[in-house]
Amino acid sequence: MHIFHISDIHYQPTDIDGQRKLQRIIQSINDSPARPDLVAITGDLVWKEHQEYYAGCFSILSTLSVPYVVISGNHDRTADLIQALRQYCPSHPQPSDNSPKLNYVVDSFPVRLIALDSFKHNQGGGELTKADFAWLKSKLEDNSERKPVVILVHQYTLPTGSGFFDAHQASWYKEFNEIVVNHADTVKLVLCGHLHNSVSSLIGGIVPIISGFSTNWGEDILEPNKTEPNRDTSRPLAYLIHRIKDGNVSSYTVTVK
Ligand SMILES: [Fe+2]
Repeated sequence: MHIFHISDIHYQPTDIDGQRKLQRIIQSINDSPARPDLVAITGDLVWKEHQEYYAGCFSILSTLSVPYVVISGNHDRTADLIQALRQYCPSHPQPSDNSPKLNYVVDSFPVRLIALDSFKHNQGGGELTKADFAWLKSKLEDNSERKPVVILVHQYTLPTGSGFFDAHQASWYKEFNEIVVNHADTVKLVLCGHLHNSVSSLIGGIVPIISGFSTNWGEDILEPNKTEPNRDTSRPLAYLIHRIKDGNVSSYTVTVK
């Protein structure tokens, strides 16, 4: 299975350059000889919780020639994103059990996707609640086939080396990481965004976590004294392809001219 991974679109109607970048990345995905099964978009579709920005964002995303899934980022107010999905992408999974959060499972592939909604207003680090953890555990434990699992969540739940991002680490990361490690027999990969660059590590030294590139701008991650994002719009465009075969994961970076 090939999961193509993009993130942090930060759509704004006036940001024509950002829209063109997203269009070029989508063209590359549509033309890829690797043949995507699915595109995963790991949050921050729009900038600063603007509900009215989703129409333009989904208009461009609708040009993807393969199915895609999205999760909430810290800039995606969940109620607005759910409403936008109903309006602009009605085939997209909806919240599990009529929950107000955009938590859902996709089980139609050889890999089970578990999508987690960490949005909390004005909290860059987001939040997972006790109910979210209970839901996550139930979806991990109700897996008698021991299907490989990929978890999608917006924040990168380990330290990064960036003063800016590490200042916004949230308390839920610890419990999340513990749950992932406790299910390392099936959890093969955690996909996230938020960092605007691709960073990877192993949770508990076992389970890979990798952040997708922003389609719009990059950040200098290894700056321990950085207190503000630098939003480097000159960074080359790139996205990731995760190939999952026989329980093994390989991740590739594709650059876009
Ligand atoms: Fe973010």
